Amino acid sequence: MESKISIFITCLVFAAAFQLLLPVSEASLKVGYYKSKCKKAESIVKSTVRSFIVKNPGLGAGLIRMFFHDCFVRGCDASVLLDPTPANPQPEKLSIPNNPSLRGFEVIDAVKAELEKQCPGVVSCADIIALSARDASLFLGNISYKIPTGRLDGRVSISAEALQILPAPSFNLSQLEASFASKGLSTAEMVALSGAHSIGRSHCSSFTSRLYPTIDPTMNQGFGSFLRKLCPQNAAVDGVVPQDFVSPNKLDEQYYKNVESLTALFFSDWSLLTSGATLNQVDTYTKVPGAFKADFANAMIKMGSINEALPGSPGEVRGPTCRAVN
Ligand code: HEM
Ligand SMILES: *[C@@H]1O[C@H](CO)[C@@H](O)[C@H](O)[C@H]1NC(C)=O
Ligand SMILES: *[C@@H]1O[C@H](CO)[C@@H](O)[C@H](O)[C@H]1NC(C)=O
Repeated sequence: MESKISIFITCLVFAAAFQLLLPVSEASLKVGYYKSKCKKAESIVKSTVRSFIVKNPGLGAGLIRMFFHDCFVRGCDASVLLDPTPANPQPEKLSIPNNPSLRGFEVIDAVKAELEKQCPGVVSCADIIALSARDASLFLGNISYKIPTGRLDGRVSISAEALQILPAPSFNLSQLEASFASKGLSTAEMVALSGAHSIGRSHCSSFTSRLYPTIDPTMNQGFGSFLRKLCPQNAAVDGVVPQDFVSPNKLDEQYYKNVESLTALFFSDWSLLTSGATLNQVDTYTKVPGAFKADFANAMIKMGSINEALPGSPGEVRGPTCRAVN
């Protein structure tokens, strides 16, 4: 009896010690974290994001991608928002996967400015990204979910890490699976999140290797000739085309239909057809109403829980701007 109690107490002590080692943000992530600290926080994010998306739906696509690119590199810590400084001239936002394609920074600036007016120093930039992506999913996809908040902002941002970690459009299925697995995400979650390629745009340079010198046999040949006209070889400027020509501003199942008809832009998109499990999932999304949206919502929440803050490297609530550490 006595030894059982002492084992129990030892366990408690260990659990408490382990808790201390966890990064603060992970220990305290919860839905409605700001309710008591800044009552209007989530509604300010929502109304600001809405005002930008009604003018330019593409910014909603940008915000959803920003969430992905933030969370994959050093966890969801707003490291993607830091501007270059003399001490750190090459932050994540200048990396090849982010520059010049990542957009929506002005939306984050506007949200942060409004939040600082109402509740200075309270709402983290990492949470602003997570909430903005959530709201963009609602406005572009009628996808609604609750996302836990309480993240802290990091102080480190390294361009080379973003290049190394973010998956490339040339990736095959095993590379995509490995990339997402390294962030704790399953293949099924990867397939669901890829549905974000039903909105927004791509620069030609992200897929011209599939057009020249010959049209990739994994691409619909008519679609390939069409893309060649929009993306001429050796063009002076890197053009942009919609990810989804059918419903470019709707976050919906159309992406999976495009994948099946070989009219998605990237080799990585096509790769979802190359295993029985992923092919089956793609097919289900094209056929079962609501299946994609439910899985997308859950996978966004999961992606938002990626936390790589190291014990002993305390995060902060960045302010007054999301572009610089305190
Ligand atoms: C599976 C691996 C993925 C690869 C290889 C990939 C790659 C890319 C590339 C190359 C672009 C075009 C960038 C440009 O040239 O402008 C793009 C755009 C986009 N991606 Fe992904 N992506 C992946 C997963 C995701 C995920 C998980 C999300 C979010 C849940 C996402 C959301 C988006 C969005 C919304 C756009 C359009 C952005 C805009 O219009 O500004 N992607 N992606
Ligand atoms: C939006 O989604 C909800 C379920 O979450 C559904 O009841 C409603 O009909 C949808 N609205 C539109 C316009 O599709
Ligand atoms: C995917 O690409 C990697 C790296 O090029 C290669 O080693 C692997 O064999 C490829 N896998 C498949 C299934 O093609």
